[in-house]
Amino acid sequence: MKVLAVETSCDETSSSVVERKENRIKVLSNTISSSIKLHTQTGGIIPENAAREQLKFMLPVIMDSLIKSENIKRPISKKEKFFLANKILKEKVDAIAVTIGPGLIGSLLVGVETAKTLSFAFNKPIIPVNHLLGHIYANFIENNWEFKIGNLKLGIDFPFIGLIVSGGHTDLLLFKSHKNFKWLGGTRDDAAGEAFDKIARILDLSYPGGPEIERRAKLGEKGQFNFKSPMIDTEDFDFSFSGLKTEALREVKKISKSEEQTVNNISFAVQEAIVKVLVKKTIKAAKKFKISTIVLGGGVSANQALRERINLDAKRYLLDANVFFPELKYTTDNAAMIGVYALLSGKPTNWRLIKAEPELYFN
Ligand code: KG4
Ligand code: ZN
Repeated sequence: MKVLAVETSCDETSSSVVERKENRIKVLSNTISSSIKLHTQTGGIIPENAAREQLKFMLPVIMDSLIKSENIKRPISKKEKFFLANKILKEKVDAIAVTIGPGLIGSLLVGVETAKTLSFAFNKPIIPVNHLLGHIYANFIENNWEFKIGNLKLGIDFPFIGLIVSGGHTDLLLFKSHKNFKWLGGTRDDAAGEAFDKIARILDLSYPGGPEIERRAKLGEKGQFNFKSPMIDTEDFDFSFSGLKTEALREVKKISKSEEQTVNNISFAVQEAIVKVLVKKTIKAAKKFKISTIVLGGGVSANQALRERINLDAKRYLLDANVFFPELKYTTDNAAMIGVYALLSGKPTNWRLIKAEPELYFN
């Protein structure tokens, strides 16, 4: 079975063709068009700008992903592209998957309404997908398994603890099966990625802040600054990152931002404080529920310090620990992960019932 997946929850416009053969998932194409340059100029996302850009990109991105999924080697003219994409959608695609939320309303509407129109016009079933679950399902891509074969790890077994760390969300979940999962806790204010982005802005680093802080942290010195990891010792599985921003701001006010090494040292301490609490609570959840598999997803799961620390602590504190991350290109927003979720756990739904749900959570 093949799905055409569409993802437009935030600033990316993405489309992907994903195939399932028995339990094996393969991404045939994954086209992403980002309006990030626009947001770098404004220091963050202006929702209306993002949606306007997505309207321009949506159909060309879908056409591109359809054509790439067939791996055609010869040159294709612009005119032929249209007919070819149309033919592939008609003949090769079994269903359309789309992110319905959570996300920015204007952005979501672009993807949802496009997917509904295609579903209606081509008479294909449509599968609504929760963006956050998509981040976890990025780990089920077969390419990822091949990547793991060197470590003799083939695929992910249930149950597992899932940690979603993105720009808008930080959530811990316990997955017993595809359909049976439980939310354990999440952030009470800013998400981990949001903390990286906001603190980067205070430090005059560019957007998105996570990769910039990671780059500067590599040049930073340990012990020069110490920021508290908020809520690290609480009994629950909740997080809070807004205080960290205030703490960082207090230090930044005392220094000149042109002091490159000080910015590096602050970046180190910020990353350390965020990583510490994410890892500690994830391992705590695994221990409490006697689970040895941990699966991470979302933009922040690209962070190398987080990957190293959770691998290390999982080995130290859990028996037969198994930690999974998506391949780097599938950590940030992409349509492939939406297709994967649709193929493994999605439910075709009457298109009349499908609508953009900016506040969608876990239910
Ligand atoms: O999952 P994602 O692409 O979008 C949302 O669904 O929100 O995540 C974007 C977030 C941004 O906040 C970005 O700063 C963060 O992921 N991020 C990182 C890294 N790469 C992206 N944070 C820390 N380290 C990274 N290497
Ligand atoms: Zn995301």
